[in-house]
Amino acid sequence: MAKRIGIITAGGDSPGLNAAIRGAGKAAVDCGIEIIGFRDGFRGLAENLKFELNKRSLSGILTIGGTILGTGRDKPHRMEFEGEERDMTDVIVKNYEKNKLDALVCIGGGGTHKNALRLLEKGLNIVTLPKTIDNDVPLTDSTIGFDTALGIATEAVDRLHSTAHSHHRIIIAEIMGHRAGWLALGAGIAGGADVILIPEIPYEIKKVAEAIKLRSEHGTNFSIVAVAEGAMSHDDAVEFTAAVRRRKNSKTKTDKQKARQELLELEARHQGNTMRIAKQLTELTKLEARVSILGYVQRGGIPSAGDRLLATRLGTMAVELIQDKVFGVMVASRGDVTKPVPIAEVAGTLKTVPENHAWVQSARRVGTCLGT
Ligand code: F6P
Repeated sequence: MAKRIGIITAGGDSPGLNAAIRGAGKAAVDCGIEIIGFRDGFRGLAENLKFELNKRSLSGILTIGGTILGTGRDKPHRMEFEGEERDMTDVIVKNYEKNKLDALVCIGGGGTHKNALRLLEKGLNIVTLPKTIDNDVPLTDSTIGFDTALGIATEAVDRLHSTAHSHHRIIIAEIMGHRAGWLALGAGIAGGADVILIPEIPYEIKKVAEAIKLRSEHGTNFSIVAVAEGAMSHDDAVEFTAAVRRRKNSKTKTDKQKARQELLELEARHQGNTMRIAKQLTELTKLEARVSILGYVQRGGIPSAGDRLLATRLGTMAVELIQDKVFGVMVASRGDVTKPVPIAEVAGTLKTVPENHAWVQSARRVGTCLGT
């Protein structure tokens, strides 16, 4: 029987984190298990920054955005201290033991799962919950935060219509999602965008311009373009894929560093791509184009009912699994079922949009240009 569990939130924040902390916390307290929150992700575990969660601190947080624990992108094996990187893995293991934890719940996305796997391999009892507005965690239907962000981005796309229409402009909404297009695709479809560009479907800018010109020829001289922050032109995608392959195949440390550097440079060059798209579209269509970068608004504020429900399902199930001594798993949502899947199968894999996904097909069927 577990007596004491720890909990962290790591990576970028997302709406619904507090609902997940509350779900796990209340379920634990209900079974007489002590629950200790560590601050700011893996750093809190390394520096032993903690506080006990109780009925009082867990109450009233269901509807609040962000995370009462704080979060961060620190990695256990490469944590920065005054400009220097240190491997804190063993310190984290010691703190886990010192705090007499029976298990640790890590709530996070792709990076968190890789870090959780490292700690799992050191012998810690870990259960994770998938959270990210990007919805790119495999083996689960959805991640905590995605539904709220989808609502916010959809409302933004809705609102851009009246201003684009009034000024006869192209308005480009840049939507978050890192290397995955779920958020841009979902919000683009739900908000009725005329063009949707996502990383999984590299675009030809000429094709985008043609679609916009065709609308003008039919008397509609405004267009809304939903662009995922990771969307790439066909040429850029070829270069990027080759660089990723080189990194995967590099054997020596020097080769790995070189390949990593090359990818960083490509990513830096990709910054500002949405502005570039606006410039290209103005040149090609002779219509004025404006950019609206939705940014962190997509991650902030009150979680949707869907996210509160998902977070509560996953959080409470985490404690049930710990009680049953099921460790090394992520709690996944699969249809109506909430079930454990191995962290080892989640870590290091991204769930991107399949080219023939039902959402892609629907977008095409309503006449949305996907840049090809
Ligand atoms: O992973 C969530 C996310 O919001 C991505 O969509 C975005 O690319 C990234 O985080 C931004 O990261 P940061 O919070 O470090 O600026």
